[in-house]
Amino acid sequence: MDSVENPFVIGKVVGGGKFADRDNETLLLKRELDNNQNVIIISPRRYGKTSLILHALQEAGKEYVYVDCSLANDEAGLLEQMLNNFVGNQPLEKLAAAIRGCLKDLELTIEVNPAKIKVKNVGSAGFEEVVKYVSSKIVVLDEFQEVVRISENLPKRLRAVIQHQRKPFVFLGSKRHMMRELFQNPNSAFYNSGVVLNLGLIPPREFQPFITHWFKRTGVKLEDGDTQGILDFTHGHPYYTQYLCHFLWEKRRAHDKATVDQVVSFMVEANSSFYESAYSSLNPNQRKALAIVAREKNVFSKQAIKAGKMNATQNLQKALASLANKEIIDKNGHYHFNDLLFRKWMLDRTQPN
Ligand SMILES: Nc1ncnc2c1ncn2[C@@H]1O[C@H](COP(=O)(O)OP(=O)(O)O)[C@@H](O)[C@H]1O
Ligand SMILES: [Mg+2]
Repeated sequence: MDSVENPFVIGKVVGGGKFADRDNETLLLKRELDNNQNVIIISPRRYGKTSLILHALQEAGKEYVYVDCSLANDEAGLLEQMLNNFVGNQPLEKLAAAIRGCLKDLELTIEVNPAKIKVKNVGSAGFEEVVKYVSSKIVVLDEFQEVVRISENLPKRLRAVIQHQRKPFVFLGSKRHMMRELFQNPNSAFYNSGVVLNLGLIPPREFQPFITHWFKRTGVKLEDGDTQGILDFTHGHPYYTQYLCHFLWEKRRAHDKATVDQVVSFMVEANSSFYESAYSSLNPNQRKALAIVAREKNVFSKQAIKAGKMNATQNLQKALASLANKEIIDKNGHYHFNDLLFRKWMLDRTQPN
């Protein structure tokens, strides 16, 4: 019993049986990739974009190159990831031979321990060469909005190469505003360049059987109302559902009967120094706006503005924009906290009038 692993995975990409639902999305992605159609997945952070695309690619048995654009500081870094992930675990000699002769406008070195390609210099055509080279597989560009940070003209140059490739490209992004700007603004290089999937939460009715299955399978007993309590708190947010389940599983395994509410409070407490410092860095209007978002669905209603002691709609708008910019909140139909525990922390410390 002691050797049973906690089945609720947090902070890592989930796959196999540890992956819940997303049947329709998986089907759609597999179909579009079979059609060689580019796809774009947009959602706030931690909704499961990365897990979903890797799940769909594995189910479809497709070869792919995964690139996390947020890890690259410059063009060379981006190309380095593409090349290393393209060659995977092949032996070094094979890798060197494969690349030699294909890439002319690039200065590369090969490191031995661990085996890794290093991009030293990128000539004017180097970027295009590498993108073409790796696109014999499906290329997944995660946190794609970050390429703009690398260089403003990179999207345009990328678009120019990829429109001539046969295999599809997948773009994932967590900053909705920037992703929409890139893919849905008629003046943007990527306008109309693929099918857009706006990823939402996992419906609680789909999450519930997943939770009960994994408790049962690992021989850990749930108390009455546990799954309901978790899903009432998370509304099916993939990350926070796993997070809560993870800690509840530990409690239940130790025969601790703490309620879901108590487990939530414990987790809020554990993160409170982080919330304290985030909150103290906000100006007064931002703090008021955050308190309104914590309580109200319709933040612009007269009653919400009055209760929040905000003196003008304009100020509220400005404060919301800066909170979104700091990625504390996001707008998905209505404004909401990205971190559900931060919201709970706010609710606990700010009393309604
Ligand atoms: N379909 C899923 N089933 C179960 N848990 C999931 C699922 N999708 C995401 N998660 C949980 O959410 C976390 C964040 O997922 P991730 O794919 O990294 O999100 P994103 O790429 O949108 O930031 C994972 O570590 C996992 O705990
Ligand atoms: Mg991700």
